[in-house]
Amino acid sequence: MKTYNIALIKGDGIGPEIIDEAVKVLDAVAARFDFSMRYEEVLMGGSAYDVTGDPLPQETINVSLNADAVLFGAIGGEKWDNLPREKRPESGLLRFRKELGVFANLRPAVVYDELVNASSLKPEVVKGVDLMVVRELIGGIYFGEPKGWEGDKAYNTMVYTKPEVVRIAHTAFKIAMERGKKVCSVDKANVLDVSQMWRETVEEVAKEYPEVSLSHMYVDNAAMQLIRDPKQFDVILTGNIFGDILSDEASMLSGSIGLLPSASVGAKIGVYEPIHGSAPDIAGQGIANPIATIASASMMLRFALGENEAADRIDAAIKHALKDGYRTRDLANYDAKELCSTSEMGDIIANYAAKE
Ligand code: NAD
Ligand code: IPM
Ligand code: MN
Repeated sequence: MKTYNIALIKGDGIGPEIIDEAVKVLDAVAARFDFSMRYEEVLMGGSAYDVTGDPLPQETINVSLNADAVLFGAIGGEKWDNLPREKRPESGLLRFRKELGVFANLRPAVVYDELVNASSLKPEVVKGVDLMVVRELIGGIYFGEPKGWEGDKAYNTMVYTKPEVVRIAHTAFKIAMERGKKVCSVDKANVLDVSQMWRETVEEVAKEYPEVSLSHMYVDNAAMQLIRDPKQFDVILTGNIFGDILSDEASMLSGSIGLLPSASVGAKIGVYEPIHGSAPDIAGQGIANPIATIASASMMLRFALGENEAADRIDAAIKHALKDGYRTRDLANYDAKELCSTSEMGDIIANYAAKE
């Protein structure tokens, strides 16, 4: 029997609660498809800082680099917000992505038919939405130098090199070839030099994908268009900070940020993680929606382990649970038949995944 080694990073806040449910579901499909999962738990974020004084201990990097994939919950919380920048949980996560070299963060936003009433937008606007945000993850203003804070002046720098834009553009075009063959590159080229270079570079890469239609949009317009008519989008290609913001916005098409998974890829080892954070406001109450993390585990099976049937099974089980009216509290007001806790939702999805 095949065994996969997974580095498991639960993190802070709701991280441990949602990761436990993803593990439950993974174990259920593994039993059914005749493979097994071996998890090695390592620390990152505030919980790592509390134990080791470092939000990203070296062991976490080592174990992750030797695993088949990383499954990650979320980090951060008020307790650590006033630490020096490099000790903060968020800095640990950024360093982690950089160390692994996962430059492409794939954030699909899909509206489940069962949840068309859950969106803040009208059902006819969101029904059928299926888009993919391809977010550059280890460059841009998150990492640019110089950065600093001196007295009354603080600054960060948005930098991209051409090779960084080329590789993320290839990722987006390749994904578009497997989908609707449309890429919308989002930038701020009317104001920023870095965006103008981004735009020109994306144009050059596009020549290698004649079947894909490329458009460009300024980020302010894109934020508006996502709400006005989200179905116009197939693949949205964008930089680190714009992708962070637009993907949280896109989550509200689906009804809850607790639904959106992601895959951080581009290197030997990928990181599979929900797009949301550690949700300190609901941590420890057993009410978080575990679906984003369970769907991230499904992306891990598909992209990192090649277990496509098991991934399909999880995706079907999520839909089935929603169709049967099971809802965590974030979605309780939308066609709910039964309100579930985090672990009840995990049980239901694991059961469906194991049986069907
Ligand atoms: P957040 O995504 O944690 O929460 C935003 C809102 O969405 C909250 O009301 C929260 O309760 C809700 N929410 C999030 N996930 C949910 C889920 N699975 N089910 C139900 N509701 C859910 O964003 P925030 O409040 O801005 O940030 C909180 C902390 O998380 C901060 O420390 C931030 O830096 C960190 N953060 C971490 C990551 C990550 O680890 N990848 C991502 C974003 C934010
Ligand atoms: C995310 C988060 C992170 C980001 C933070 C916590 C560093 O918001 O994963 O979306 O901005 O990338
Ligand atoms: Mn974010």
